Amino acid sequence: MSAGPLENGALWWRSAVIYQVYIRSFADGDGDGIGDISGLRLRLPYLAALGIDAVWITPWYPSPMKDGGYDVADLRAIEPLFGTVADAEAMIAEAHDLGLRILLDIVPNHFSDQHPWFREALAAAPGSPERARFIFRDGVGPDGSEPPNDWMSNFGGLAWTRVTEADGLPGQWYLHLFTPEQPDVDWTNAEVRAEFDQTMRFWFGLGVDGFRIDVAHGLAKADGLPDVGSTMWPPVTAEVVDHPHWDRDDVHEIYRSWRSLADTYDDPRVFVAEAWVHNPGRLAQYVRADELHTAFNFDFLLAPWDAETMRESIIDSLAAHEAVGAPATWVLSNHDTVREVSRYARPQDERRLRKLDDLTDLPADFALGRRRARAAALLMLALPGGAYVYQGEELGLAEVEDLPEDVLQDPGWEQSGRTERGRDGCRVPIPWSGPAPPFGFSPEGASAPPWLPQPLAWRELTVEAQTGDQQSMLELYRRALRIRRSQPELGDGRLTWLDVPDGTLAFGRGARFACIVNFSGDPVPLPGGAHVLLASGPLTDDGRVPRDTSVWLTT
Ligand code: GLC
Repeated sequence: MSAGPLENGALWWRSAVIYQVYIRSFADGDGDGIGDISGLRLRLPYLAALGIDAVWITPWYPSPMKDGGYDVADLRAIEPLFGTVADAEAMIAEAHDLGLRILLDIVPNHFSDQHPWFREALAAAPGSPERARFIFRDGVGPDGSEPPNDWMSNFGGLAWTRVTEADGLPGQWYLHLFTPEQPDVDWTNAEVRAEFDQTMRFWFGLGVDGFRIDVAHGLAKADGLPDVGSTMWPPVTAEVVDHPHWDRDDVHEIYRSWRSLADTYDDPRVFVAEAWVHNPGRLAQYVRADELHTAFNFDFLLAPWDAETMRESIIDSLAAHEAVGAPATWVLSNHDTVREVSRYARPQDERRLRKLDDLTDLPADFALGRRRARAAALLMLALPGGAYVYQGEELGLAEVEDLPEDVLQDPGWEQSGRTERGRDGCRVPIPWSGPAPPFGFSPEGASAPPWLPQPLAWRELTVEAQTGDQQSMLELYRRALRIRRSQPELGDGRLTWLDVPDGTLAFGRGARFACIVNFSGDPVPLPGGAHVLLASGPLTDDGRVPRDTSVWLTT
């Protein structure tokens, strides 16, 4: 069943389910072991039939791949490994014909060090206009040999690298909040702003429906670049600190101008912010009426599987979003976080499990993790607003925790001095079909194996193996998405909390739809007259909802 022609509703994004394609790992069309646009084109019918509304594609621009493509060397072209601009145009047209909208990833905080602007900056003198597009500063100390401040890279080590000047001597330092190959650009520079405006117009002109904004909370830096004073950055806590480079109020003016650019198009062009901020109130500032349309709700992603914490997270998010008239955007995983099956397989205390190193020491029960992930999917898809599904989530894939060290590619691995294994475990290529790797990820006769090795156990989790198996995760997602489309109460709107015992949550959507989630309570009876539309797992013999299970009901 295809989604059908594009719905023209200007507000489609308020209810949308958007599927994240991590392009290197989704589908390989040309057999080099790396996902690409031709592979994605072949799989578009799968995505349309899944019942999603749009696809977000991670960076596909020319890149030395020091950070999986988030090191962009040319903002308005396609990485040859992935295809050509013509392939991209064809893919966008085909997606639109299938009723799918396309969002790209835009990376405004930094460029690749191979971007022509950075090469020009290195060749130019201190104080030149070429250097002013980035954040170059003199070092501290008599010979400038100490970095300009105490800022740390997100991947470990200093956020500053010293360059060699034309005279062959050590010179200025440049800022990179991520790898040294990702120099931060200076958003107070008018050329930078114009460059991104032109980039958005370029892709909008090719039919792209919106952008996911990478590190949306990082663009504004405090005047004078003062010390942080500590390297700690708790991504989501109630406490707001005046941080010199994360979530500064100055970012909002940039997004107001992006919104006015997007609004010059007749078909709505939309944004979703990747903003790691302290609390839902701070997040909601990004989605005020004249700013971005949506922002990922990472508070929900990180919440442990616990009724009270989840309820609080949902209530706070909905209230903060409602106050600015924006829909909430739910997300359970992405290419930066440990897959939810593996997070939920661990004991769920107040610890926030985000990185592999947060959980490898904890005991794991993967059957439990999978049961909770199924229940979480129904919870997420019943909540008011939009949702994201990360590729492989619909297959119930777990994090691959035991990748051999010699295949690890996440820059965090080397940059942490090989102490943090990084994010490769959620980026392993998708299993489509067949009994052995590459599981249909690459075509037959491929010249190279998948760029990260797939576990043999995935033969039971391929799309082919799960299709038609009514107990499978894939069929659960398919049914849930089909029901979501057919129930006007779902998607954008409000919820009503229903009374249930401790350890459980229940809410209604409209007069006829309800969702009950049992996290850790006794089995919950169904309300009288209710009819089960979908359940994430078996009910008890007497028809009650056991723990780690969600049901969708109608009256
Ligand atoms: C975002 C991306 C992540 C990348 C980082 C730097 O957090 O999601 O993958 O490493 O930005 O661009």
